Amino acid sequence: MPRISSRSAASSATEWSLQKRRAFLAALIEWNAEHGRHLPWRACGDPYRVWISEIMLQQTTVTAVIPYFERFLAAFPTLPALAAAEESQVLRLWEGLGYYSRARNLHAAAQKLMTEHDGRFPREVAALQALPGIGRYTAGAIASFAFNEPAAIVEANTQRLYARLLGEPRDLKTTAVQQRLWNFAAELVTTKTTEPQGPGEINQALMDLGATLCTPTSPDCAHCPATRYCLAYETEQQNIIPRLPPRPQLTDVIDVTVAIEQQGCYLLRQRQPGERWAGLWDFPRYTVPTDADPIDVLRQQVHEQCGLDLMIGPQVTQFKHGVTRYRITLLCHTATVTTGTIVESEAFRWVLSEDFENYALSVTGRKFADWLIAARERFPFD
Ligand code: ADE
Repeated sequence: MPRISSRSAASSATEWSLQKRRAFLAALIEWNAEHGRHLPWRACGDPYRVWISEIMLQQTTVTAVIPYFERFLAAFPTLPALAAAEESQVLRLWEGLGYYSRARNLHAAAQKLMTEHDGRFPREVAALQALPGIGRYTAGAIASFAFNEPAAIVEANTQRLYARLLGEPRDLKTTAVQQRLWNFAAELVTTKTTEPQGPGEINQALMDLGATLCTPTSPDCAHCPATRYCLAYETEQQNIIPRLPPRPQLTDVIDVTVAIEQQGCYLLRQRQPGERWAGLWDFPRYTVPTDADPIDVLRQQVHEQCGLDLMIGPQVTQFKHGVTRYRITLLCHTATVTTGTIVESEAFRWVLSEDFENYALSVTGRKFADWLIAARERFPFD
């Protein structure tokens, strides 16, 4: 069995001796010089770029983030530019990245930085954490990557790496283990080394080692510079540490959506605060209760929500997608209005298909919009 430190996390004793930390960090830094990743937000010392990238990288892969990052920076090259933007513009550039509260918080934090911090990023972790959407990890990342402050970071990649280095067999979600990992992270990043690399590079190297070699499955221990410091490796537990949480049970859900056409326009609805994908636009969309008829659901819900009676056509396409623990099949219909008029409001707009590109749509809303545009090109006289 691995040795577990019996020291309490609050004690001032360290997990590793100074000598061991220095040896590990020297090996890490040497490895990083050759294998560290070169990413567009790195080595710039610009807290704005670091911040945008870190928010985008939450729950999203580096490969998916890069094109979004570049488009976002082209549109909002500076903090004042972002603060002055309309929230809808920010959401439009975020469209497809998911977790849209990240974009809303980004915008709110930009405005707060302008009004309360003179348009400058604080360099202290506590002040950074007081901004909307910035948690302990992101604050540590901005402080260390942009300002070279010795601030600890623990995110998915480093958490796995630290757990293996320490041979931590417990569930990583528990408070005691989190405290242990944060303490260890702080211990590493505050270690004075003889190398010129500072906390920013140390943290990035830790993250890259976690992301590229110390992967969730099949870690590449054969090429790892840290095996001689790694308790999981020493005890052959690298494939069972960290302990994985049980996979969530997926629930199947049927949703239905409708493109209501009137005089060449389609009805879009803005999702309201508190709803999933708040702020994004979508075609009217509803969940179909078990055993209900999707067309009946559409008819009733659109009548209730929009005051329109519809002539609904057959299903034209469908999209499958996942949201948290739901596996959703979205049935798509087209319809025309038989009676009723809708008052255009903040929540509802009649939009020409040529103008869809100016709206931040939900991912499936965009797929359906693209489908409608393609269908119009195929059947231009319909
Ligand atoms: N994941 C989270 N932050 C990251 C970063 N700065 N570089 C690469 N992967 C990341």
